[in-house]
Amino acid sequence: MTAQSDNMNTKFLFKNVKKLPSDALFAIKARLAVDTRSAKVDLGIGAYRDNNGKPWILPSVKRAEEIIKADPEYNHEYLNISGLEVLRKNAARIIFGDSFDLANRVVNIQSLSGTGALHVGAKLMQVLNLNERDIYFSDPTWGNHYQIFQKSGFSNTKTYPYWDAASKKLNLTGFLNTIKSAVTGSIFVLHPCAHNPTGLDPTEEQWKVILEAIKEKQHLVLFDSAYQGFATGSLSKDAYSIRLAITDILKDVPVLVCQSFAKNVGMYGERVGCFHVVLPETGYNAEDKDAIQSQLNAITRSELSTPPAYGAKIVATILSSDELYKAWSDDMITMSSRIYEMRHKLVAKLVELKTPGTWDHITTQVGMFSYTGLTEEQVARMEKEHAVYLASSGRASIAGLNDGNVEHVAYAIDEVVRHFGKDGSLYSAL
Ligand code: LMR
Repeated sequence: MTAQSDNMNTKFLFKNVKKLPSDALFAIKARLAVDTRSAKVDLGIGAYRDNNGKPWILPSVKRAEEIIKADPEYNHEYLNISGLEVLRKNAARIIFGDSFDLANRVVNIQSLSGTGALHVGAKLMQVLNLNERDIYFSDPTWGNHYQIFQKSGFSNTKTYPYWDAASKKLNLTGFLNTIKSAVTGSIFVLHPCAHNPTGLDPTEEQWKVILEAIKEKQHLVLFDSAYQGFATGSLSKDAYSIRLAITDILKDVPVLVCQSFAKNVGMYGERVGCFHVVLPETGYNAEDKDAIQSQLNAITRSELSTPPAYGAKIVATILSSDELYKAWSDDMITMSSRIYEMRHKLVAKLVELKTPGTWDHITTQVGMFSYTGLTEEQVARMEKEHAVYLASSGRASIAGLNDGNVEHVAYAIDEVVRHFGKDGSLYSAL
């Protein structure tokens, strides 16, 4: 090959790169930004809004920022590779509980929120060749799950039944059958609370059955905890499934936990989270812990060098102060109860309008989202005719509702449901 043709080969290396579709949720945000209609409503990305539709800086966060900035030692130095120690310790405490043996059973690292935690988990599994195993996600799940794991070499991504469209309930039988028929030692990604996108969580009894079935087949569980506090307003209640796993049903095997502070501390853009490896009660020693920590550190060092500091300091300040912790708990109640109230106001209006269909699933679902049951066509019409934006799956971020727009959204739902008449799946199903 001549030098000239070598050059030509290099020249076009990036020429016919395959263009990928835009991220569906961020595409909604972009369309909404250029919509000039005054009545536009954002029920797209899961981000809390106050009753005026504005982003809300939690009062506990404001207070923590004041404390951090008033500290004479305040600076922007690097954190350690594994992140802020006080954050990692307290993050583990709030998710695993005060009495959990953190010192012996938890190895963790600060991450770029929940997505970064999932990525570190995926990379760790890749290092250990676990990416060759089947990995199961709920059907449906958060869309980003697939690409996070696929980009870390997981080619066998599969689903377990979760949402039963006809009953709008959990398909427990399908879920259990998949756990039982999966190859022994598969990986199951579970949403511990406030399931995204359906807002539908297993009951405590159902969690027991699910985790027992997983234990039976020796599957590895990865909990993706992005909404702790949003299902019930209580951190400990929302950690029920994780604590049941690590202290009881799965206490003899490792459990992986990804933790995000994007929603519950409102740290969306600051990217604060942790990835935890919870070790079995027996069988691992201090050397094993050190070795796992070294692998986590190497992943972070090669990708971020060190994790970002500012948001981590805010969360750590809140979690390590009794007074701020209490204020934060109140903030979470403010958020979860406003969402709860909006669910009820929306349904009350739909009932008043006699909108065809049943809507009580919106009030029984929990967390930030409702899987409304609206079809893709109905969602498209909501956007085009009524300037109401939600995911094409019919997932609505209830946090985007407020006293000023909830009636408009109810009228929009009513209109699209009637518009598609008997041919619309939601209408004809009834
Ligand atoms: C969502 O599902 O809307 C959130 O988790 C935001 C995101 O990054 O997708």
